[in-house]
Amino acid sequence: MPSPAWTIFLLLAFIIIASGSRQVYNILVRGHAPFIFSRRRVLTAVINNLVLQSGEVFYELGAGAAPLTRRLAKLYGDNKFVAVEYALLPYLLGRLLTLGRKNLTWRQADFYKIDLSAADYFYCFLNVGAMKLLEAKLLAEAKPAATVISYVFVLPHCQSVKTLSVGQEKIHFYQLNTLDN
Ligand SMILES: C[S@@+](CC[C@H](N)C(=O)[O-])C[C@H]1O[C@@H](n2cnc3c(N)ncnc32)[C@H](O)[C@@H]1O
Repeated sequence: MPSPAWTIFLLLAFIIIASGSRQVYNILVRGHAPFIFSRRRVLTAVINNLVLQSGEVFYELGAGAAPLTRRLAKLYGDNKFVAVEYALLPYLLGRLLTLGRKNLTWRQADFYKIDLSAADYFYCFLNVGAMKLLEAKLLAEAKPAATVISYVFVLPHCQSVKTLSVGQEKIHFYQLNTLDN
């Protein structure tokens, strides 16, 4: 009979391996973006180019541990923020880092499968395939006036209203109601 400490260790090891395997499957087979943080200077550039109005709602899609949303939620204490992340470990880390922050809601979910119609702003750092699928979903269901901010990857059929350069990479801003398609 293993000791309680061993039982906890084995349980944690099982959760980490199961969650890691699921993410590897999602990345390799389903083409989902892996867990990589946006750099600090990217977060600063986005924050400096954003002014949230009272009542506006901000979603981070594929939030990881939500570095941008965590900073914004501190700055805009009266706005509502939603961090959507399906992978267990970044989700738990993000929740831990935002304990007690009442204006930030975490959802452990696949963002393709949830309703995105409440958001005024979206931030994402994903990959080429994800942006293609997300574009169709956003055009079908997001608020027409919503703004989409994407680090590195473009919405393939949309024209950005603003692009910021951060080193070699770009941050694209889209206003859904200015698109011609
Ligand atoms: C490149 S990381 C970006 C993390 C964070 N947004 C940032 O900028 O630091 C992409 C994240 O999206 C998550 N992700 C990818 N596809 C997803 C999906 N369909 N639903 C929810 N999360 C997803 C991954 O697990 C990963 O944590």
